[in-house]
Amino acid sequence: MRRDALRAFRLGCTSVQYFGSVFTDSLREGAVAFLDDEFRLDDPSFYAGDPVPVYARLRAEAPVHRYEPLDLWVLSRYEDIRHVSRTPELFSSESGLVLNDIKYDQSMVKMLFPPDAENLMASDPPRHRQLRKIIVTAFTAKIVNTMEPRIRRIATTLLDRITPGEPIEWVEDIAVPYPLLVLSELMGLPGDNIPDLRTWADDTTAVGLPLTQEEFEAIVRDLMNSAAYFGEQFAQRQACPAGDLLTGLLDAQIDGERLNEVTRLMFCQFLLAAGGETTRHLLSNALLTFLDHPEQHELLINDPGLASTAADELLRWITPAMGFVRTAKQETEIRGQHIGAGERVYMLYPAGNRDEEIWPAADKLDLAREPDPMHLSFGFGEHFCMGAALARMEIRVFLEELMVRHPRFALAGEPRRQDSVLFNAWESVPVVFG
Ligand code: HEM
Repeated sequence: MRRDALRAFRLGCTSVQYFGSVFTDSLREGAVAFLDDEFRLDDPSFYAGDPVPVYARLRAEAPVHRYEPLDLWVLSRYEDIRHVSRTPELFSSESGLVLNDIKYDQSMVKMLFPPDAENLMASDPPRHRQLRKIIVTAFTAKIVNTMEPRIRRIATTLLDRITPGEPIEWVEDIAVPYPLLVLSELMGLPGDNIPDLRTWADDTTAVGLPLTQEEFEAIVRDLMNSAAYFGEQFAQRQACPAGDLLTGLLDAQIDGERLNEVTRLMFCQFLLAAGGETTRHLLSNALLTFLDHPEQHELLINDPGLASTAADELLRWITPAMGFVRTAKQETEIRGQHIGAGERVYMLYPAGNRDEEIWPAADKLDLAREPDPMHLSFGFGEHFCMGAALARMEIRVFLEELMVRHPRFALAGEPRRQDSVLFNAWESVPVVFG
């Protein structure tokens, strides 16, 4: 008899209970064996296939799944991901955020920024709250609302460049410049060097690519070119304060001390990546999502007033940022699974965003769905996306204008995915508008 069976009988289990639990155990072992073959968290080709059924099995059979190759726990249920995000006193952001941090056993995110720079996303309270307070005022609903007419102008200018019948490269021509022009507005930049801003945003998010350490170090060196540009921008504001976000960073103080130069630079580089890349990937995926769901696309064409709920449903469906890591500060439990101090957990947002315990028909795209409960795409709690209101408005305004100006389109070539394990991203989406 198995040793655990003897223990079960000693504890007074009936044979029905014991064989029931053996059955559940073997189911779980079967699930884990299946998942070991099918679930490749750190392999970009896994996301290029059809990961949705694997997410469903994870939620059902192994919601706190041990992923041996990276020695971490993968969370796939909405409530567990929300719990971890909302409990920074138990789950730290300081010892690695992205899968490559674990693969290379050092913080790629921290490597990206100069050694003396403090890092907003990779910090814990109380310091995190002090850093966050510095820029949170730039993202209030009032400020974001006043930006709407300017953002609409950016969207219409870009969309008016489209000539029906002439193929365009959707990612390069539209999805890349749109959020970077919006960020330039927000930060008070002239908006005349979008290719540079794009390079620096891409450099920062290279943390999600399958690079060698040497390749990554070369990117870190390249990123330092942005220091000269932002240094010049700060110098201009020192001479002539402009009341924009960069002037705010110059004036900001924590406990009577100004931010050091490299921390100001970190804020700028980080905003380019956080705001520039995520929205780009949402827009690139959105066109492909419309092609896959023509009836939902038609619904939006007929009623652009749905753009607001559509923005949130597309965020849930697409999940541009696919997950972040936390490290347990002390022993704890998730769904009865013991998590040791120092062990890592990974919040797999796209799996949580299809949790059938949270949304009726979670596996159905419904552009009229009310965003309550809120999807996981902006995270939750301590590090909740600061640009969420801005991103929502940016996407809504864009959809409203797209549905009026160029509602119908077709692929003009084969889309090509980006090899990222951090973003749900496309490098190329050739399209032609009708
Ligand atoms: C589709 C658009 C976007 C998505 C999907 C997205 C997603 C996220 C996620 C998941 C986090 C949480 C990370 C964590 O918990 O560790 C986050 C944080 C953050 N995001 Fe966004 N984001 C978007 C747009 C933006 C924009 C437009 C900005 C700014 C212009 C922005 C600025 C930030 C900042 C500053 C943080 C860090 C907050 C902190 O650590 O306290 N994001 N974002």
